[in-house]
Amino acid sequence: MPSSRIPGFYKMSVQERLEKVAEFAGLGDEDKRLLLEKGLSLDIADRMIENVIGTFELPLGIATNFLIDGKDYLIPMAIEEASVVAAASNAAKMAREGGGFVTDYSGNIMIGQIQVVRLNDPYSAKFEVLRHRDEIIEKANEQDPILVNLGGGCKDVEARVIDTLRGKMLIVHLIVDVKDAMGANAVNTMAEAVAPLIERITGGKVCLRIISNLAVYRIARAKAVFKKEAIGGEEVVEGIMNAYAFAEADPFRCATHNKGIMNGISAVVIATGNDFRAVEAGAHSYAAMRGYKPLTTYEVNENGDLVGTIELPIAVGTIGGATKVNPLAKLSLKILGVSTAEELARVMAAVGLAQNFAALRALATEGIQRGHMELHARNIAIMAGASGEEVDMVVEELLKIGKIRMDVAKEVLEKLRARS
Ligand code: MEV
Repeated sequence: MPSSRIPGFYKMSVQERLEKVAEFAGLGDEDKRLLLEKGLSLDIADRMIENVIGTFELPLGIATNFLIDGKDYLIPMAIEEASVVAAASNAAKMAREGGGFVTDYSGNIMIGQIQVVRLNDPYSAKFEVLRHRDEIIEKANEQDPILVNLGGGCKDVEARVIDTLRGKMLIVHLIVDVKDAMGANAVNTMAEAVAPLIERITGGKVCLRIISNLAVYRIARAKAVFKKEAIGGEEVVEGIMNAYAFAEADPFRCATHNKGIMNGISAVVIATGNDFRAVEAGAHSYAAMRGYKPLTTYEVNENGDLVGTIELPIAVGTIGGATKVNPLAKLSLKILGVSTAEELARVMAAVGLAQNFAALRALATEGIQRGHMELHARNIAIMAGASGEEVDMVVEELLKIGKIRMDVAKEVLEKLRARS
């Protein structure tokens, strides 16, 4: 099995990196051309949304070093922010020393909500809905025989009476196994289809019929042991524990903590053509279920190593939607080597944990600006004319001097060349 551990990947040219990824993932010439030249065609874009006038691009980077449930992964990440891909790769490298990430997944189960209003006796209506559960499930499943044949479909019905600004309402949930789809289409179709039946059963009026992004039955989890020697020793462990305690106690910090997690997850969600707003909404609403809390936890085990876990809803698909229409999304799935929604969600959870660990480690030690400055210095060095090994040398000198400017870079390069 090829390894995702590719030393010096960041120093390679785009072409060299692509060759490495092609080798790892078995990409052909057409795949490579798609990445380097063609991208998303106007033709396809025009069929994806309305009023198209062009396409909008993002850098696609590859995070290396990920070992998840014993399998090596290269992770495609579409993101505009510097340092995210490097940080994820770096964290994954450290996690490898503790055996990599292990993951868990609760199933491809989504919730469709049906809001029932104008009820005189909402608790009686709730009782009637539950008493007619099988009939409701049958009606829902008539909408999607293909999904049902695959073993998916509506599996259960839940009902809750809630207090609202406009009095009591009955909220019916369809519990749907959407298999490898994100599921919004299947669930929304079912919710709309059962609405007349629910009106008949309850005597009320159905208002909204829509999926819930708080996908509490579609939870992905990941865990990693970060060996203390691999991450910089006891002080770093303590710093990360302090950082975690800060986020746990303070929603102002927790928002940024969780944002860092989503830097990683959303980048993979976008690269694979999935709905990043849905995943973001799910993550933050899940974090807020018991007061706004971190999506990760950290503990110190008996060896003094740091044990990190993450838990959040991840509603993504490998079929349907843009995952199959956008050729770049298909290619990202090919690079990842995943074919099921489950495996994709597990990978994303591991990436989220890696991203959070990397951010906390940087924040608890040298701060995050050094990483940003390094990339900036690299760009300046290359623009000043450095090439090959000169780049690293100029970057190092610029960081030492603390002035990342073109004129300084040119001066450093001149001196370097004069010496050799
Ligand atoms: C920046 O995009 C993300 C961080 O702010 C996350 C964090 O503070 O944990 C570095």
